Amino acid sequence: MTAAVPGSAADAATPAPDLIRAGVIERFGEPQVLRTVRLPRPTRASGHALVRVHAASVNYGETKIRRGLVPELGPPPLVLGSDLSGTVVEAEPGGRFRAGDDVYGIHFIGTYAEYVSVPEASLATKPVTVDHVGAAALPVAARTALVAISEYAALRVGQRILIHAAAGGVGHLAAQLARHRGAYVFGTARTAHHPFLRDLGVNEPIDYTRVDFRSVVRDVDVVLDLVGGEYGRRSLDCLRPGGLLLGAALNPGVTEEDADRRGRQYRWLGGTRMAQPLDVVRDLVDAGQLKVHVERTYSLSELPAAHAHAETGRVTGKLVITIDDEPAVGWPTPP
Ligand SMILES: NC(=O)c1ccc[n+]([C@@H]2O[C@H](COP(=O)([O-])OP(=O)(O)OC[C@H]3O[C@@H](n4cnc5c(N)ncnc54)[C@H](OP(=O)(O)O)[C@@H]3O)[C@@H](O)[C@H]2O)c1
Repeated sequence: MTAAVPGSAADAATPAPDLIRAGVIERFGEPQVLRTVRLPRPTRASGHALVRVHAASVNYGETKIRRGLVPELGPPPLVLGSDLSGTVVEAEPGGRFRAGDDVYGIHFIGTYAEYVSVPEASLATKPVTVDHVGAAALPVAARTALVAISEYAALRVGQRILIHAAAGGVGHLAAQLARHRGAYVFGTARTAHHPFLRDLGVNEPIDYTRVDFRSVVRDVDVVLDLVGGEYGRRSLDCLRPGGLLLGAALNPGVTEEDADRRGRQYRWLGGTRMAQPLDVVRDLVDAGQLKVHVERTYSLSELPAAHAHAETGRVTGKLVITIDDEPAVGWPTPP
């Protein structure tokens, strides 16, 4: 279920303001370090499109950036946010998009903002069957799920997969994609999430708080581990000889050597050979084969609450930030 947000081709005809609202951190820390401020509007870089963002989503990874666990991004101030759905207001001449096009995409940092300049290659035409809230929930989570299921696992009809955190952002999409490819799907989640998992097509939901998943799942072809830590090591016990463990969490808890010693394979989900995964995601969504679930929306000024919610680890599907017309407070202040 998604909420309506403003946004249409009319954005392309409206002059972009000189100052824009953005959700920034001025130092690393707890959710309260997120503030909505006014910043100069970014200018479109070469090969980019300038996009009026209508919605962004919260990915668990962004809470790690906020905490300073991804130091390669450099020091604050940083505008956070990786997913976007919006409208092109200035396009690359002769490029893939035109002003007025509705797009969705991934820009690793900077999408909690009214405007962002994004490489054209990181954008795709938005699905038409979901609004900007639904589209903003998709990019990182759906690309990760698609690459895991279709490329790394290359799941085939009749194969069996265990998906950890199957009710979460990546997991609820991966479960649908696995079922779509004809696999038999086990999924871990608390009992309260089991009706949701069954609606996604999960064949056997497992309440990890009540049973050790290793006592239920044996000899699967693939485990997609979206939890990490000790789940990585324990998941090796569920695989058939030669089976594949895919890790996605920052701390996967297992190495290729660990898996090799056990006669299993381990790969960390990073990078893809797929040319335009978001085009594939859009087509699946518009064909009704992939449905995104948005648990709730927050406004830009509610970013601290949205991040605190994400950090509970209890989200059903996705959380989305709507970028509408609220007041913002002044410039970033020194730490
Ligand atoms: N490598 C990549 O390219 C990549 C890309 C995207 C995400 N990631 C990583 O993948 C992980 C998942 O991301 P996400 O955005 O999908 O997370 P998320 O939406 O925050 O996951 C929330 C879900 O986790 C479930 N959960 C929490 N603890 C669990 C446990 N011990 N066992 C099973 N389920 C549990 C919860 O279900 P219950 O309430 O039922 O417990 C909840 O539905 C994160 O570590 C993220 O950083 C990696």
